[in-house]
Amino acid sequence: MAVAAGRPTARTEAENPLSEGLERLPPPPTALVIFGATGDLARRKLLPALYNLAHDGALPERFFLIGIARKEKAHEDYRAECEQAIRRFSRRKPDDDVLKALLEDVKYVPGTFDEDSVYAELHRLLDEFEEQASEPLNRAFYLATDPSFFGVIVDELGRSKLAQHMHAEVRVIIEKPFGTSLEEARELNRRVLAVFDETQVYRIDHYLGKETVQNMMAFRFANGMFEPLWNRNFIDYVQITAAEDIGIESRASYYDKSGALRDLIQNHMLQLLCHVTMEPPVSFTAEEVRNEKVKVLQAIPEPTPEEIPEMAVRAQYAKGHAGGEDVPGYLEEEGVPPDSITETYAALRLEVDNWRWAGVPFYLRTGKRLARKLTEVAVTLKPVPHLAFSQAGSLGVQPNQLVLTIQPNEGVSLSLVAKIPGTRMAIRPVNMEFLYGTSFLSQSPEAYERLITDAMRGDATLFTRNDEVEAQWRICDPIVRFWSSTPEEMANYESGSQGPEEAERLLREGHRWRAI
Ligand code: BG6
Repeated sequence: MAVAAGRPTARTEAENPLSEGLERLPPPPTALVIFGATGDLARRKLLPALYNLAHDGALPERFFLIGIARKEKAHEDYRAECEQAIRRFSRRKPDDDVLKALLEDVKYVPGTFDEDSVYAELHRLLDEFEEQASEPLNRAFYLATDPSFFGVIVDELGRSKLAQHMHAEVRVIIEKPFGTSLEEARELNRRVLAVFDETQVYRIDHYLGKETVQNMMAFRFANGMFEPLWNRNFIDYVQITAAEDIGIESRASYYDKSGALRDLIQNHMLQLLCHVTMEPPVSFTAEEVRNEKVKVLQAIPEPTPEEIPEMAVRAQYAKGHAGGEDVPGYLEEEGVPPDSITETYAALRLEVDNWRWAGVPFYLRTGKRLARKLTEVAVTLKPVPHLAFSQAGSLGVQPNQLVLTIQPNEGVSLSLVAKIPGTRMAIRPVNMEFLYGTSFLSQSPEAYERLITDAMRGDATLFTRNDEVEAQWRICDPIVRFWSSTPEEMANYESGSQGPEEAERLLREGHRWRAI
């Protein structure tokens, strides 16, 4: 397949001096195989991401796509489904020619993931594509199925000799959740690494593909200004929020077994924490960056049952008003057992016990059906030692706060204190802001576009390594266990609100939650 298309934003980008460097180099010839090809993730995220890469000319010149799922259907029917999904979920309105070129060769293999015949057919199609390409094709197997199939698929790929290929790279991309406990994660790692080498494995955490998450590293390590302050001597506390206004939608069967801690804190939020706290890597290679992240995770003490009530809060949403309508509580949602003890909100106070951070609290909170969608990291500096401007007319003076907004309104804002114009020495906080959208005049690619490209290019920097994922579980596992043994401790919060009052008890004196 060869797809070329102009970018709709090309003129504005060309006029913008900051657009230099936005181009991406196409990855080598690749066959991408999606297991779970008709599922939600494939429809909402993967296929639209592939379309947008095609639109930008960022797919390999020789690119082949195979979908595998249980239901029997013809290649053409699967292509029509792909087209529908792309039209519905793409961030851009699809261009007919690009879409046609992307989908014309797509193949579909029906069957269950433990059936040998599925892998025999896959083998045959891959050989056929390779013949068509007249050169060795890299292979990327994307596991977008229910997590219970990850181990089976990996075993089968090994058994059917698809895990290696002469003169080409074979990679496996594994979706989250990577296990539901430390023990499961270890077992899955063991199974995956019995078939693939760690360098072939790409564990997805889609937050790492977000531009603004990557920008945290640029912000910290490419500016001389902040890093000297980035430690326990100057920083009072750090607050990381991942609030959502949506409920659990139609995902009760997954969500009720997971809960907020496992769904968002164990992966995305601990990754954000790593980005805030890691030491500068020697270079931005996958190994160096991940070594530094693992060190941070290892410096977070495993919570003991005595500490957990003091450092962790969970709650469920009750009915309320969100997104302009009345919404039911979690226990009234379709598919949720009426006595469920799954949390839809979780907040933690963690510490990173190392030279740089000892004693600084890191407050993490996430929840469904909160006041609005907001993901941000707020770093609050220590107050000045003496404030000589306390006369009347000064307004709400607070210590400096640096806020990295991951979404929406991606950007960085720094609160400063400034004099209010006039004859009195009165002061108030003001903000200095950098906004991604208005500075770069370009729409950021979706996280999955970046991650699929990187996996095809063989760059694992933005993927989680085996020891990293296990270190994340080591922190969360004791809390999951403690919560399941104390079901009576569940708090509530009204849908559309700021979350449960109980979250206040995590805060040290003088600290406060930012408004969502
Ligand atoms: C997923 C969770 O990993 O992240 C979802 O399973 C959550 O429950 C989603 O809604 C949030 O992602 P984003 O990119 O919308 O912040």
